[in-house]
Amino acid sequence: MLKGKKIIIGITGSIAAYKIPLLIRLLKKEGAEVQIVMTPFATEFVTPLTLSTLSEKPVLTDFFDKGDGSWHSHVNLGLWADLILVAPLSANTMAKMATGIADNLLLTVLLSAKCPVYFAPAMDLDMYKHPSTKKNIHTLEKFGYSLIEPTEGELASGLRGFGRLEEPENIFSILKNALIPDSALRGKSILISAGPTYEPIDPVRFLGNRSSGLMGIELAKAFVKRGAIVKLVLGPTKYELTNPSISIENVITAAEMHQAITSSFTDADITIMAAAVADFTPKEIQKEKIKKAAGKNSIHLKPTIDILKELGSKKTNKQLLIGFSLETENEKENAIKKLKSKNLDLIILNSLNDKGAGFEFETNKVSLISNHNKIIEIPLKLKSEIAKDIVTYIEEELIFE
Ligand code: CTP
Repeated sequence: MLKGKKIIIGITGSIAAYKIPLLIRLLKKEGAEVQIVMTPFATEFVTPLTLSTLSEKPVLTDFFDKGDGSWHSHVNLGLWADLILVAPLSANTMAKMATGIADNLLLTVLLSAKCPVYFAPAMDLDMYKHPSTKKNIHTLEKFGYSLIEPTEGELASGLRGFGRLEEPENIFSILKNALIPDSALRGKSILISAGPTYEPIDPVRFLGNRSSGLMGIELAKAFVKRGAIVKLVLGPTKYELTNPSISIENVITAAEMHQAITSSFTDADITIMAAAVADFTPKEIQKEKIKKAAGKNSIHLKPTIDILKELGSKKTNKQLLIGFSLETENEKENAIKKLKSKNLDLIILNSLNDKGAGFEFETNKVSLISNHNKIIEIPLKLKSEIAKDIVTYIEEELIFE
């Protein structure tokens, strides 16, 4: 049941708007509250009267109520919703969403929203294939919005291809699962580290590594989609994460990462160390910039704490502990050694020898090695897809109630 769940459906100008009345009926039948917000152009495709009758609420299209002159607060609407769906999403509104244009009520509601946002594009196949559409979808996904991909089939133009709005029954299941995930991970507390650490040498220099943080970020997003409560301890990264459901603690050094992870570890059901933590740090940090003329050409290092190993020695049999292993030689052998010596339930092996896999790519290729010596190979794909596969494996093979 979706009783008490508040959903805004934003409708934009597309023929596919005819599918929305059915979606409203499905949501209402499950007890959800549905507020329709339309762009002015959308009203040409489906009547506000039909939508307000089915949703049992007045449809909003304008900033102002023409009847009593009152103002519809986009801020209140954005805060009210547990979830916002924009469907069908036209190429025009998509471009406005991607650039932050706010010239109608729906766009301002989206800018004020604090809840998960789903978007379901519907357009002609060539519009969908256009690089600007691809770029805008990528931007919206970077904002943390979730794409409900269009399907293939007959389009309003008479052409066939991708661009059809997903069927209302399927959109309904996606929304239901987003609001009440049917997953063993629902409500579980997940702790993830991601990114590199920077170990300061002097005020301008540091020892770092090439980790981008993307793999850990995608894992955090994939867990949230299954209803888990996620904390992400994030080293310096170029990625901006605005998913309101992920609590983020930014750190810079291995010592800060150690502190942040250990303070949350006891409460975590599953901990994943995806960060590339420095193994060594300078013994001393120079207060002033080291000058060339001083001729100092060596830096003395001391080892950092192996966070994962420390967690392995503390973990209870109710907790799952997962590590990553980045190898350049004897990959499986080295990964299995780490799995055993750090007392892990699972190790995820990346090999720098695999093309397209590792730190600086948006793709990865990994092997999952469990402590029962089961090995699953995941082929090269986007890190977001790899993250989904890893989370599914954890959910299906490792999780315990
Ligand atoms: N790790 C950690 N603390 C460290 C170093 C590594 O928690 N100080 C974690 C990483 O987050 C990763 C796992 O240990 O999950 C393995 O990291 P990796 O760099 O592959 O291995 P190391 O144990 O550091 O060994 P080596 O560098 O010799 O391969």
